[in-house]
Amino acid sequence: MSDRLIIFDTTLRDGEQSPGASMTREEKIRIAKQLEKLRVDVIEAGFAASSNGDFESIKAIASVVKDSTVCSLARANDKDISRAGDALAPAERRRIHTFIATSPLHMQVKLRMSPDQVLEQAIRAVRFARQYTDDVEFSAEDGYRSELPFLAKVCEAVIKEGARTINIPDTVGYAVPSLYGDFIRQLRELTPNSDQAVWSVHCHNDLGMAVANSLAGVSIGGARQVECTINGLGERAGNCSLEEVVMAVKTRRDFFDLDVGIDTRQIVTASKLVSNITGFVVQPNKAIVGANAFAHASGIHQDGVLKARQTYEIMTAEDVGWSANKIVLGKLSGRNAFKQRLEALGIQLDSEQALNDAFQRFKDLADRKAEIFDEDIHALVSGEVAGEDPEQYRFIALSQRSETGERPTARVVYSVNGAEQTAESEGNGPVDATVKAIESVEQSGAELLLFSVNGITSGTTESQGEVTMRLQKAGRIVNGVGADPDIVVASAKAYLSALNKLRSKHEKVNPQV
Ligand code: KIV
Ligand code: ZN
Repeated sequence: MSDRLIIFDTTLRDGEQSPGASMTREEKIRIAKQLEKLRVDVIEAGFAASSNGDFESIKAIASVVKDSTVCSLARANDKDISRAGDALAPAERRRIHTFIATSPLHMQVKLRMSPDQVLEQAIRAVRFARQYTDDVEFSAEDGYRSELPFLAKVCEAVIKEGARTINIPDTVGYAVPSLYGDFIRQLRELTPNSDQAVWSVHCHNDLGMAVANSLAGVSIGGARQVECTINGLGERAGNCSLEEVVMAVKTRRDFFDLDVGIDTRQIVTASKLVSNITGFVVQPNKAIVGANAFAHASGIHQDGVLKARQTYEIMTAEDVGWSANKIVLGKLSGRNAFKQRLEALGIQLDSEQALNDAFQRFKDLADRKAEIFDEDIHALVSGEVAGEDPEQYRFIALSQRSETGERPTARVVYSVNGAEQTAESEGNGPVDATVKAIESVEQSGAELLLFSVNGITSGTTESQGEVTMRLQKAGRIVNGVGADPDIVVASAKAYLSALNKLRSKHEKVNPQV
């Protein structure tokens, strides 16, 4: 008999703790909507007490998400928990996720508390959280490095207080699969009321074993919730990757014998959205969502796949949302075809005006680029999807000159709240000249942390370049993304997009600086 594996996504909380992966409120809402489409069971929307920005994001997500449970993290104290409870108030289904460390090292050095004090605080926290919701999750931070008898005592006590989910994180990514699986199994055996809670795993990827450890927690340990993130985003080396764990359980159903509610055809869209918003590029050979994950280069493989797909493929590209029909539109495509393609890609624009604007940009692009791929369409509408802040800065035009042996120059025309502005500068290269030109007028004083360029569609120089610029100022980190067949133009767009975010009226949602 098969039972169910709960998928708990923490891209918006643990994922955002990845240095540089900060997101605006609107970006978090977009990702949350995509996670809902992906049909994740629980969306951890943030850490309400960490900042007003995070509080507001959780509240906004709690108001729009209907099909998934919305969750906030909270330390085991009344102030954090009541912040989480208030942020989650609009949610149809809400969960408070409270945690305290239980390993000797964390208790002694970090918390400076005795085991009895930690036990008492865990009980109080769960009791208090229950005033806001019946759905309370308790996490024993650094759980895997805790002493089993003490950990079992804490788990028994919080289950008695009504915690429905017990999560045992491998906070520092120290576990190996068979040991972690055994640890969870023994812990459940030592906890007398273990059958009254769902057991959950939360693994970090410091030794590259987060997915393997999580799966061992499920198959050996009997866990029935996995905490994971899109593209494995997360602190340091990241978290367990959602797409890998889900496809492992689905593809090897013969072994795991578990149901997962995920609509796997939404995986690639979710991956691209998270990558685009955070500026964290997905490596080409990444399982499931890497550009090469389903590419067969060798002649022997291609021949085999043509004869019978199963010779070299254990799942299909379409199952995870790679579109079979790559070339979609061109110069002669009409508004209706464009609209239909947006719908097929799961992109929702919030007004006819937004659709008309996007269609105009599509036409402009089609004038310069013969074939418009799905990736181009994603780039075309990124930043234009429902609810985005109105932009202060808009790119208008650019001219630049570079010649071997001479210092390049750039002239950028853009608008600031509708008023046209022209900026000129020279620089080390055309991109440097472009950024210096904008800065000569804007004087933002922001520090550039990252400049990266990627071809949106691989294997052709006709591809649009997608540029990410990561800026930091006064404790805020933002990512601006711009796409254009001309990478210097893409760079100008990315820089202006980052300035828009730096000057956004919303308080930043960034727990990492
Ligand atoms: O890694 C960890 O221990 C965590 C907990 C707060 C759940 O993220
Ligand atoms: Zn974590």
